[in-house]
Amino acid sequence: MVYQIYPRSWADGNGDGIGDLPGITARLPYLRDLGVDALWLSPFYVSPQADAGYDVADYRDIDPIFGTLADADKLVSAAHGLELKVIVDLVPNHSSDEHPWFQAALAAGPGSPERERYVFRNGQGRHGELPPNNWLCVFGGAAWTRVKAADGTDGQWYLHLFAAKQPDFNWENPPVRAEFEDVLRFWLDKGVDGFRVDVANALVKAAGLPDWDEPLHLLGDADGVRHEHYGPRPPMWDQEGVHEIYRAWRQILNSYNPIDAAGYSNDSDRILCAEAWVDSQDRLARYVRADEMHQAFNFQFLQAQWRASDLRDAVTNSLNAADSVGAPATWVLSNHDVVRHASRLGLSVGTKRPNGIGVGDPQPDAALGLRRARAATALMLALPGSSYIYQGEELGLPDSTDMPDDVRQDPTWPRSGHTERGRDGCRVPMPWEGDQPSYGFGPSARTWLPQPGSYADLAVDRQVGVAGTTLELYRTLLTARREHGLGAGSLSWLGGYPEEVVAFVNEPAVGERVLVIANLGAEPVAVPGGAQILVSSGPLTSQGLVPTDTSVWLSA
Ligand code: NOJ
Repeated sequence: MVYQIYPRSWADGNGDGIGDLPGITARLPYLRDLGVDALWLSPFYVSPQADAGYDVADYRDIDPIFGTLADADKLVSAAHGLELKVIVDLVPNHSSDEHPWFQAALAAGPGSPERERYVFRNGQGRHGELPPNNWLCVFGGAAWTRVKAADGTDGQWYLHLFAAKQPDFNWENPPVRAEFEDVLRFWLDKGVDGFRVDVANALVKAAGLPDWDEPLHLLGDADGVRHEHYGPRPPMWDQEGVHEIYRAWRQILNSYNPIDAAGYSNDSDRILCAEAWVDSQDRLARYVRADEMHQAFNFQFLQAQWRASDLRDAVTNSLNAADSVGAPATWVLSNHDVVRHASRLGLSVGTKRPNGIGVGDPQPDAALGLRRARAATALMLALPGSSYIYQGEELGLPDSTDMPDDVRQDPTWPRSGHTERGRDGCRVPMPWEGDQPSYGFGPSARTWLPQPGSYADLAVDRQVGVAGTTLELYRTLLTARREHGLGAGSLSWLGGYPEEVVAFVNEPAVGERVLVIANLGAEPVAVPGGAQILVSSGPLTSQGLVPTDTSVWLSA
């Protein structure tokens, strides 16, 4: 069980309105009480924050808004003291344009070794006035920006698959590989337990950078339908060359993992987890072959519509693919890049998955969304494999869907020409104490994004110890999951239920088996006679039936 902390928005120690490492350290006992095994921190490195820290200017230091290296040491040791592992985010596809290497590349000019660390090309057209190819960046607009030559005239172009302030590294260049291997060792020596690897599918581009006519999206196509690319793979995604990079990294992690000395193992203490947007579960499995990473995010489950058949397909495909390479499957419903599932599931089934929701957009049904979110989480936490939860989902937080557009900070909003609102709605600071300024996020009333009024009643102190709250549901689920050993279990589907019911048994190797029923249908469903209810995502009917949009765990 891994809990994702978005450092800007979890806990603010100094009252400047932005979360920080001392704030996180002070709140760590909350995670122990919640019952997770590890925390993953989104980037805290030195950064101009053009993409909320995914634009790194120094991979070996902490941005002053978050604290210092000494604060990071304290965080890691406090977490370990609470038996929580710490996973940090590694951003190897691109740096910030303010990284010293990129500044050196600008100063050194075409043909220099400094430019070789990034992807510089001459433009097309008579005067090089056209980009080198037609690639678009994920946030909208061209993936190329032109720089000035030393004499002030227009010069070469550089590639950025994300914002212009995020130039892509050239992973064909040996010094880039050596640098990141050293960065891995730097953080492993500091005692971190692993890395979440940002856009792990993007580091190597197809030779010659051939044109590609389709737009790129975070998490693949955003229409909620799964697309298999039967044609050629996009030249910037999932190229064969990425795998040798991860094989080399695995060797480095192995050298820190005593258990791996005897051979490859997925029980390792220090892990690599890929964020890889690929076309299919089979392609994803290639990132977690025995000598590569340990885990890879599985976005098919997150992208599934609230339909029993979609959920069953996502689970079956994911388990089969993970089994084919002997890796654990992973599950996630929310993160810092998508509309929170308590809001997403409050939109009509079949709605295209929005990239942010704002004023004037169709608004989710909050009560329906929360009910479904609780049922979805109860289903997810019963699945074998590793689950990732995103800060605040344990409170049932919705996205902020009425945030004024002028406070938005995601580059997606301006770069898309104000057509996609982007990801600010899921990044709003956490509410801890409903009666405090900033709902206890920090010691002042300041928050870098405004918090919706609905967050007061959802604050931690309003939920803790209160039967039936979402926080208590998560705690109960996590305790039962651990007691029954469900993460290491094995799943069999149960027949005999209506089509709109997801029903399975998780048979753990050591703990007791658990039967799971998630009812997505219109009619209430009976539980098997004699089965005892362990936990339910919502109230049962007066006859003890499982109503619509409710999941139960039963001991059978
Ligand atoms: C994926 C991250 O999750 C996202 O937040 C970021 O914008 C891109 N990678 C670029 O680093």
